[in-house]
Amino acid sequence: MQKFTILFVLALIALACGGGEDIPAESSTTPDKPVAKEINAKKIWKVRCIACHGLYGDMGTNGAANLQESTKDLDYRINIIKNGSENGIMTAFGEILNDDEIKAMAEYTMDLKKD
Ligand code: HEC
Repeated sequence: MQKFTILFVLALIALACGGGEDIPAESSTTPDKPVAKEINAKKIWKVRCIACHGLYGDMGTNGAANLQESTKDLDYRINIIKNGSENGIMTAFGEILNDDEIKAMAEYTMDLKKD
């Protein structure tokens, strides 16, 4: 009888360990966390960038570059958003935004250009 009890307990332990391993750890705690493709660039723009660049990118506070007239390429923009401007006026966002967000913001600034 005792032998069966031990087997039963072992079976329970095996079940407890085997199940549930594909439940993503963060799924229930961070439901609003955007996945890479759903980055809301406009929202980030309004929160992080508007103070200097303005809603349409041409405000120029603190000497901010006019993004409607900028001819800089995507790589340049990714770099300046990540590391800040050389003159130290533009904030470095490398610690605030992740790489996908930085790229999305660089692309967003490309779209501010006047046609
Ligand atoms: C504190 C003010 C400030 C904030 C906030 C700011 N910028 Fe800037 N930004 C600047 C300044 C100043 C320059 C010009 C730097 C230079 O002349 O080297 C600039 C330049 C740029 C450029 C390069 C354009 C060019 O033609 O040189 C891009 C792209 C850019 N900013 C994007 C952003 C984005 C995206 C954000 C928000 C995530 C942001 N900036 C937030 C001040 C700011």
